[in-house]
Amino acid sequence: MTESTSQPARRRILSGVQPSGKLHLGNYFGAIRQHIALQNEGAECFFFIADYHSMTTLTDAAQRRANTLDVALDYLALGLDPTRVVFFRQSDVPEVCELTWIFATLTSMGLLERAVSYKEKVERGIEANVGLFTYPILMAADILIYRAHLVPVGEDQIQHLEMTRDIAGRFNRVYGEIFPLPDYRIEKAGAKVLGVDGQKMSKSYGNTIEIFAEGKSLRKTVMGIVTDSKTVEEPKDPPATVFALYQLFATPDECAEMVARYRAGNLGYGHAKEALYAKIDAYFAPARERRKQLAADPDYVESVLREGARRAREEARRTLDLVRAATGFSTYRP
Ligand code: ADP
Ligand code: TRP
Repeated sequence: MTESTSQPARRRILSGVQPSGKLHLGNYFGAIRQHIALQNEGAECFFFIADYHSMTTLTDAAQRRANTLDVALDYLALGLDPTRVVFFRQSDVPEVCELTWIFATLTSMGLLERAVSYKEKVERGIEANVGLFTYPILMAADILIYRAHLVPVGEDQIQHLEMTRDIAGRFNRVYGEIFPLPDYRIEKAGAKVLGVDGQKMSKSYGNTIEIFAEGKSLRKTVMGIVTDSKTVEEPKDPPATVFALYQLFATPDECAEMVARYRAGNLGYGHAKEALYAKIDAYFAPARERRKQLAADPDYVESVLREGARRAREEARRTLDLVRAATGFSTYRP
């Protein structure tokens, strides 16, 4: 293998989160927590804010800017270490759009038409624009431009990862082996976090508990989690959605104790909600403090993102040079 086509030397992990609203417990347990844990495992980590992707559902520029800063603050407050991770905005590496075009010419309509996430979004009333339809191609470009080996995500992204592997395989067969086929990794405990209505928690369903909610507003959200209408007196299991969330924070012993107390009867659902509220509040308290400090220093946050973009772009250009050479384009940069 020649120097120019050689694969990344170290194992490379990559993931992205859209700046489409305030991050919530689903994002944390399904994605962010694993991202932050992975920075200590010796792999090279690339994490980015998928602001181009957010255009498929959000057209307010000021909102996008605010959400992007929010996501950056959230990650840094939750423990992302920018000296270990390449942390950047997707749009600071516009090369990814060029690769998206190249991949689009290798992607069949049928592949995209099978995308569950697209169908679900359209059913929910999101406009069926071409960007939304081709979203998985941009995602494939995100992953492959950094030639990542592993992509930690929530369950809902598995199909997008399978599409990415399809696209990488197609490219490699047509133009030559450039891309490793990325694997995905799902954290079981947080694979599908439920929202306050008992459905999958999602920014677009309006059923979230925000990571950085606090005080009255957090309490109000937790108290609003739907439960059935069993009486206080009757013996029962803890309320399902509340308990599923409680399990994310509590020890096995604490969970067993809660089940035992409900089965003994004479315990209303408010008790479990109070317990959950206290857990969430305590768990994120240190990160809330850090976030307040970071929010007072937007220049620092911007400098982190710029340094991340510089490193990411260097890598993206290296891949794109290989791709341009393999597809019959010049690699001249005017
Ligand atoms: P949302 O559905 O709120 O718009 P995103 O699609 O931006 O969230 O997801 C960002 C990351 O968080 C992805 O890796 C996704 O799989 C994960 N994620 C989102 N919601 C959940 C959830 N309810 N449970 C587990 N993981 C989730
Ligand atoms: N589609 C992902 C989501 O909604 C966000 C995303 C964009 C992503 N590009 C990615 C995730 C690349 C992992 C890798 O959650």
